[in-house]
Amino acid sequence: MGKSGGYRLGSVEDSEIIRNFRWQDLEPNTAWTAWRAARLRVSERLQALPPVEVDSLESPSPEAVRELEARCALGNFAVYSVAHPETDVAAASAALARFAQHFGLLESEAHRSSGAAGVVALRTSSEEGKKGYIPYTPKAMNWHTDGYYSAPENRVAGFLLHCHQKALSGGENQLMDPELAYLRLREADPAYVRALMHPEAMTIPENREPDGTIRPDSVGPVFYPDPATGRLQMRYTARTRSINWRQDSATLEAADWLRAWLAAGDPLMRQIRLDRGQGILNNNVLHNRTRFEDGASETDRRVMLRLRFHVRVAEEIHGAAE
Ligand SMILES: [Fe+2]
Repeated sequence: MGKSGGYRLGSVEDSEIIRNFRWQDLEPNTAWTAWRAARLRVSERLQALPPVEVDSLESPSPEAVRELEARCALGNFAVYSVAHPETDVAAASAALARFAQHFGLLESEAHRSSGAAGVVALRTSSEEGKKGYIPYTPKAMNWHTDGYYSAPENRVAGFLLHCHQKALSGGENQLMDPELAYLRLREADPAYVRALMHPEAMTIPENREPDGTIRPDSVGPVFYPDPATGRLQMRYTARTRSINWRQDSATLEAADWLRAWLAAGDPLMRQIRLDRGQGILNNNVLHNRTRFEDGASETDRRVMLRLRFHVRVAEEIHGAAE
C-alpha cells in the first residue's frame, strides 16, 4: 500500500481539493464545481471498497491505520474487519479504546452508561428499554447524527461503532456522509445550506430525560465547522416531534427536503449489516438502524460497542515532512 495508500482512493489533486474546500462560501464558483466533482468521484470509489482488514484492534498495522485515516479524511467513514475478535465484552471494550487511540481519539465522551474504557455496550435491555431509551430496544432508529442534543462544548465529532455480536436478524445500518448531504442540498438550492448553517436553525427543547435529569435546550446549526479543523460537521435528527426548526421558509423547506431525501435514498448511501468483529470508524456521519430480532441463544443477541469523541479522526498525512 505504501505511504500514499490513501491516494488510490483518488488523485493527490482530489485529496487536496477535498481537504481544503471552503464549504462555508456559498457563492457559485469554480472551487465548488471542482469540489463537487472530486467528492463524487472519490465517494464512488470508496463505495466499492471492501472493509479494511485489521489483524488486532490493540495494535493495528501502520498500513491499516493509514488506510482507515485516508478513507475518513476523504469520505468521513471507514469500515474495518477484525480477524480474531475478542469473545468477552470487557476485553473487546478495552481493545476498542486502544484501537481508537491510533486515530488520535484519546478522550471519549463521558456517558452515563459507559463501562470499561468509556465504551457503551448497546444491547436489548428491559431495564433501559423501560426508561424509554430506544438504543436499548430492538426498535428501528431514524436518521440522526450522534449527540445532536448536546451542548456546543460537548458536540460529538467522531465515534466508533463495533459489532461484538449480531442479532439473529435485522439491525442493519445505513450511513450517509454529511458532506454529501451538504452537496445534495446545495445542488437543490444553496439557500437550503445557508438556512441550515444559521446558529439557531435547529432547537431540541429542554427535556426531562428518562433517568430524571434535565437536559437544557440545545440550539444550534445543522452544518457547522469542526473547531479544530474547519471541516464540515453535522447536527441532525429526522425526528418530527420535540424539535423546533427556525421559523422561516428556507429552513422549513430545507428540513423537509433533507428528510425526504434521506427517506428516498441516494446512490452514495451505504447500507451495511455489521458482522461480528466489524465496525465503523467515522466523523459522526448520518446513520440509522433497522429493527432487529435477538435469538434465544446468548450468541444470537445483538451487542454493539460504541465510543464517542469530541474530535474527528486524525488526518495527518503520514510520512509528510514537518
Ligand atoms: Fe447513533
